[in-house]
Amino acid sequence: MPILDGLDTAAQAAAADMLAAGGLVAFATETVYGLGARADDDAAVARIFAAKGRPADHPLIVHVATLADAQHFGDLSQPAALRLADRFWPGPLTLIVPRRPGVGQAAAGGQDSIGLRMPSHPVARALLQAAAVRGVRGVAAPSANRFGRVSPTRAAHVAEELGPDLLVLDGGDCPLGIESAIVDCTRGTPALLRPGVLDRTTLEAVLGASLQAPGRDAPRASGTLEAHYAPNARLRLMDGAQLRSALEVLQGAPAPQGLAVYSRTVRQVPRGIALRLMPDDAGAAAHELFAVLREIDAGGARLIWVETPPPGPQWDGVRDRLARAAAA
Ligand code: TXA
Ligand code: MG
Repeated sequence: MPILDGLDTAAQAAAADMLAAGGLVAFATETVYGLGARADDDAAVARIFAAKGRPADHPLIVHVATLADAQHFGDLSQPAALRLADRFWPGPLTLIVPRRPGVGQAAAGGQDSIGLRMPSHPVARALLQAAAVRGVRGVAAPSANRFGRVSPTRAAHVAEELGPDLLVLDGGDCPLGIESAIVDCTRGTPALLRPGVLDRTTLEAVLGASLQAPGRDAPRASGTLEAHYAPNARLRLMDGAQLRSALEVLQGAPAPQGLAVYSRTVRQVPRGIALRLMPDDAGAAAHELFAVLREIDAGGARLIWVETPPPGPQWDGVRDRLARAAAA
């Protein structure tokens, strides 16, 4: 099955039919591309785990078109959940809430909580609405990459990861570029499990309270595993000063094989080393991050030296993804 224009209604209908029949469909969202299956069908959800090579006890995010559908899967009555959903849905925020007994068991990886998100991307919204018409009230969808790899932000990345047979609803370049922020609302104090383009400060301002750091008892979450989002090349994070002195050492020496640099401040590197400039703006950096890592990989790099992003909450999402890629 090819890559189809996600704004074409016939393509949306074909994709919704596929979901209704228990098949898999990849689709654009504002964050990254998702690999979806109907969330109320455990056999369909099992196909996601098989396609990704992901352990079946890792919970997935269930995507919905309406608040009523979200309430079908989870209990959003907690004030923090309500407030965040009200302010940020549709948008790049996943809420972990208590799961309704008997629904979304496999999608939730057997947890008694469930991750819910109402995406804002027109392709995702059209697909979810077309699926709802066919009785599909929620679409379980992790990022459409093989387990542990960099999330796809273009339709072509999805095909690279999961093969040409998968139906992909193309929505172009994902506008945000990193995965949704995840807030766990199942405990007394909500906890930030994963920063996204929505950072801690922004979320706390809306909550009027501080968010907890993820606890040791937090459920296993692959997007929150230490080593994740990894390119093929080894990635090393260094601050600007470290990076400049490491490059100075290489001056005049034969260029090391397959070294690439991704930096905001370094303007020049010794011959034979690939240099890519990181944008100064955190949003622009998030937008291009995964595509750049893929491009550097494709250029044959074996080692990527990345300059640590500057401090400040707006860089948390990018810093988080880079730290995990470096840990892999
Ligand atoms: O932006 C996104 O969130 C993208 C798009 C496709 O929506 N999806 C995404 O899914 O990043 P995934 O599966 O790659 O990451 C989802 C994260 C995982 O770390 C998962 O374990 C966590 O959400 N999660 C989902 N349900 C959970 C639950 N009940 N408890 C704890 N963590 C949960
Ligand atoms: Mg993922």
